[in-house]
Amino acid sequence: MTSSTRIVLDPAAPGAAVPPRLFGTFVEHMGRCVYDGIHEPGHPTADAAGFRRDVLELVRELGATVVRYPGGNFVSGYRWEDGVGPSDERPVRLDAAWHSTETNQVGLHEFADWAEQAGLELMQAVNLGTRGAAEAADLLEYTNHPAGTALSDRRRRNGRDEPFGVRLWCLGNEMDGPWQIGHKTADEYGRLAAETARLMRFIDPDIELVAAGSSNHEMPTFDAWERTVLRHTAGLVDHISVHAYYEEAPGDPESFLASGVGLDRYLGDVARIIDEVRAEEGIEKPIGISVDEWNVWNQTRWNEVDKPDVFTGDWPIAPRLIEDDYTVTDAVVVGSLLITLLRRADRVTMANLAQLVNVIAPIRTEPGGAAWRQTTFFPFQLTATAAAGHVVIPEIAAASVDTDRYGAVDAVDAVATVDGDDIAVFLAHRSLTEATEVELRLGVAAHEVEGVVLTTPDGGDRDTVNAAASQPVAPVPLRVETDDDGSVLRFTLPPLSWARLRLGTAR
Ligand code: AHR
Repeated sequence: MTSSTRIVLDPAAPGAAVPPRLFGTFVEHMGRCVYDGIHEPGHPTADAAGFRRDVLELVRELGATVVRYPGGNFVSGYRWEDGVGPSDERPVRLDAAWHSTETNQVGLHEFADWAEQAGLELMQAVNLGTRGAAEAADLLEYTNHPAGTALSDRRRRNGRDEPFGVRLWCLGNEMDGPWQIGHKTADEYGRLAAETARLMRFIDPDIELVAAGSSNHEMPTFDAWERTVLRHTAGLVDHISVHAYYEEAPGDPESFLASGVGLDRYLGDVARIIDEVRAEEGIEKPIGISVDEWNVWNQTRWNEVDKPDVFTGDWPIAPRLIEDDYTVTDAVVVGSLLITLLRRADRVTMANLAQLVNVIAPIRTEPGGAAWRQTTFFPFQLTATAAAGHVVIPEIAAASVDTDRYGAVDAVDAVATVDGDDIAVFLAHRSLTEATEVELRLGVAAHEVEGVVLTTPDGGDRDTVNAAASQPVAPVPLRVETDDDGSVLRFTLPPLSWARLRLGTAR
């Protein structure tokens, strides 16, 4: 069976600018993201600082723009001073967040240098779990103050004469979560975040601050948490965070494929709360939404099976934690979550795919061996490298799919970006059973047309994954037909697929 989809796209329609920071990512000192991930001194491709060049190449190819660091839950027990100075003098510590041993061989200097080589803007998180305003201010002074103070001169002695100039700062991580080291009530966190923000701004007025919102939309404290935290911090912060992870519930792939609808509702709720608190408090300054952790993550397996083992075992260095093998289905969900983020670009100021390497990541590595692209690498890379200019939300008439969680949803979701004469269209097809014939009406003539589609490889199933030895899942060309003047495009999306079109309208 084949359905029909009709999409009408007006490239002249107004829309929000595409925020370049929408394509951020995240590196946490967790599992094998840093050690045996980006950093492996013994690897054949390692540079003088021990960073893998093959991984760096893949990171560049991914097209990400920002990197959040160093956590995540890890940051809530982290002492930043442990990671600076001569590496042979750095302390080895227990990392209670992930029941691991932290060697501190990578810290601010090494990571900032690596991020610069990767072309990523550094987004630094401060510890508001076991620490407070003073330590956050110390880190900021060490990082951004030019010279002439104990902390800035310490940085210079440690090899970095010029300030790092980090602009983006997260005020703690998931402080609403009972699992978080130093977990707080909304009032406790709100006051601490405000106090820290004030002090940090005294030191460097040019920074942008992110208050920690809820850890997910289902938190029992969601809404009250955002309101309370914003009442304390609204005049002091620039963004509030959203964390959003999705997984497939047994027997319910339809809801999983509609995760973009869930994210859209979550973002709508947070946007409404921001507007209400700003109005109540008379705050004129806009507050953006920083979706600074999002992805597909099989959290049920982690919480019920893997985590109990990890937390009762020894304290290994760089254990294999949450190394989800991503399927074709997962890739379609990641692509559709990107469509939602673009649709909400009027409110979402940045977003970070969590994480970058090995830990629920688009890139995987083996020690001493290969680095490869997981299935989810492709929708991220194809979106990050093409979305530019402003967002246009098309009109879509498509078949519908029934889902347990979200009711009936459109089988096809799509969004476009328009940058002068260049149009990029991103489409997710959520039907598991039928292909759809798409008619895309543009209103202008496309003279250059290029399409790619990601779907189950020939003979494969929707659980196909990429592995070190074989990487069967990759985008393939999508055949697109145009009518005589090029303003109507026709193509077929297979069941369970994600696609990108690039259209040139210049004569
Ligand atoms: O990304 C993995 C973990 O998920 C992060 O450490 C934490 O912030 C979130 O719960």
